Amino acid sequence: MVAHESDSGIVLTRQLVDEEYLGPGDVTIKVHYSSANFKDALAITPRAGVVRNYPIIPGIDIVGEVVSADNGDLSPGDLVVAHGYDIGVAHNGGYAQYARVPVDWVVALHGLSPRHAAVIGTAGFTAALSVQALLDRGLVPEDGPILVTGATGGVGSVSVDILSSLGFEVVASTGKTDADDFLTTLGASEVIGRLPEDPDERPRPLTKSRWAGAVDSVGGRSLAYILSATGYGGGVAVSGLTGGSELSTTVMPFILRNVALLGIDSAFVPIEQRRELWTRLSKDLRPQHLSKLEQHAPITEAENVLRAIQKGAHSGRTVFGVAGEF
Ligand SMILES: NC(=O)c1ccc[n+]([C@@H]2O[C@H](COP(=O)([O-])OP(=O)(O)OC[C@H]3O[C@@H](n4cnc5c(N)ncnc54)[C@H](OP(=O)(O)O)[C@@H]3O)[C@@H](O)[C@H]2O)c1
Repeated sequence: MVAHESDSGIVLTRQLVDEEYLGPGDVTIKVHYSSANFKDALAITPRAGVVRNYPIIPGIDIVGEVVSADNGDLSPGDLVVAHGYDIGVAHNGGYAQYARVPVDWVVALHGLSPRHAAVIGTAGFTAALSVQALLDRGLVPEDGPILVTGATGGVGSVSVDILSSLGFEVVASTGKTDADDFLTTLGASEVIGRLPEDPDERPRPLTKSRWAGAVDSVGGRSLAYILSATGYGGGVAVSGLTGGSELSTTVMPFILRNVALLGIDSAFVPIEQRRELWTRLSKDLRPQHLSKLEQHAPITEAENVLRAIQKGAHSGRTVFGVAGEF
């Protein structure tokens, strides 16, 4: 599926290309699955700034089987995941039967099936980075609830799942009015609306402590409020901007409550850390409700699913079947 830019916008077209089209790399992968992430939706959004040069094969997640490997320890038939770096934005990605990437971008799968790895994908990996940051901050379930914003989204829903699996009380914040069952099934103890609850209220530097920490993929005014309501010694792991990229706050949460703002980037995590975290995702950080999170679609449906993400009408994680589903 190749994204082409034209005067009328960016469209995904089913197209037959030859092997050279895949671009440089020492590992060729038969792609079993890819998935739908917010960044994939941006890749087909005009002027979103995620992709500089079209045409490109989008798909920031590649999950599949090694066909050939010129370097490193990989062998044909090994099951792998690759995401981040330039994949799907400046290097052809996972929405094609084959992908070719540098060996240093590839993680061998141990303890997770390809299907489960695809449900997790970049969004779930970002959730795991966020949870890891809160754990490294020293937060434990006894400290109190953890807030998750954009809770029905990819980062949000996997965060709810991992945190509840670890025994944390999870407060899920969502703009969707029909998402209570979905979020409580994933382990949320409480479901609330978007934040701040009263959007017209004048922002305060500090307000009553409501949570010990937060996983935030929304940003903007919501993040300013979250910081003001985070308890002493807490941490807020920030990965996204669906609610806005600006942040207008004061130093008060930092200097009076010792709150830490924890930046989360999944794209350029060094490969050794990336491999370690994927191992944790198959062990102590394993989400327990992957089948509840997943929707499946053939890759030919990718554009429709990404348009739903653009409209904010998507929940959980959509996995695309790729090889064999064209
Ligand atoms: N830093 C990184 O490495 C990294 C990695 C992955 C993703 N991200 C970022 O994280 C964010 C989420 O990514 P994703 O893949 O999880 O996206 P997603 O699956 O599309 O989920 C986004 C969720 O954000 C909420 N949302 C949408 N519009 C909103 C608005 N105007 N105000 C407040 N909330 C809104 C919705 O949740 P509710 O309806 O439940 O409120 C939506 O489901 C994106 O900004 C993405 O770019 C960053």
